[in-house]
Amino acid sequence: MKFFIDTANLAQIKEAQDLGVLDGVTTNPSLMAKEGIKGQENILKHYVDICNIVTGDVSAEVISTDFDGMVKEGEALAKLHPRIVVKVPMIKDGVKAIKYFTEQGIKTNCTLVFSAGQALLAAKAGASYVSPFIGRLDDVSTDGLTLIEDIRIIYDNYGYETEILAASVRHPMHIIECAKIGADVITAPLSAIAALLKHPLTDSGLAQFLADAKK
Ligand code: G3P
Repeated sequence: MKFFIDTANLAQIKEAQDLGVLDGVTTNPSLMAKEGIKGQENILKHYVDICNIVTGDVSAEVISTDFDGMVKEGEALAKLHPRIVVKVPMIKDGVKAIKYFTEQGIKTNCTLVFSAGQALLAAKAGASYVSPFIGRLDDVSTDGLTLIEDIRIIYDNYGYETEILAASVRHPMHIIECAKIGADVITAPLSAIAALLKHPLTDSGLAQFLADAKK
């Protein structure tokens, strides 16, 4: 399973990259705003800065909601760096744009996916990644992990190559459950990835080994 980090924070991206387990980055307009990145020029430069830290795919989201606008924005994003993946919302013009980008050889990430039907459409349009938001489904008392299971079955039934990128991952158990179900990718905050490291028996066991080594 691939690990992506879901942030636009350069220090956190670098920390995850240095850990040696990072396969890519996802961003969205909210994450860019959280880092105070404003203005088109700064936003584009920030994407390049991210690409220069990591060795995997970097999702950069369009903010247009019409086909022509998405195509113009997406083509400009794709030109920034070979590892840019154009992130497109699951709306009618978004599906058309994904089809267009696929035909142009531009990788896409279909975002804001909350149902199996939406995931099926994204795959048929040729999306490289589909992003079901599992945490936000959990927030409204709907099991996000069940959606990952359903998409896995559908994609396996027909051999769709679209990778299931579990998004809105909030904690380490989300990551573990996604790995059991067979999500291709998870994107998570650094805190959730780092939490996988932790076990109190590891800490107490190491403390004992170090104490015994001194004897
Ligand atoms: O990858 C999508 C993600 O950024 C949304 O996460 O926690 O805002 O639901 P969250």
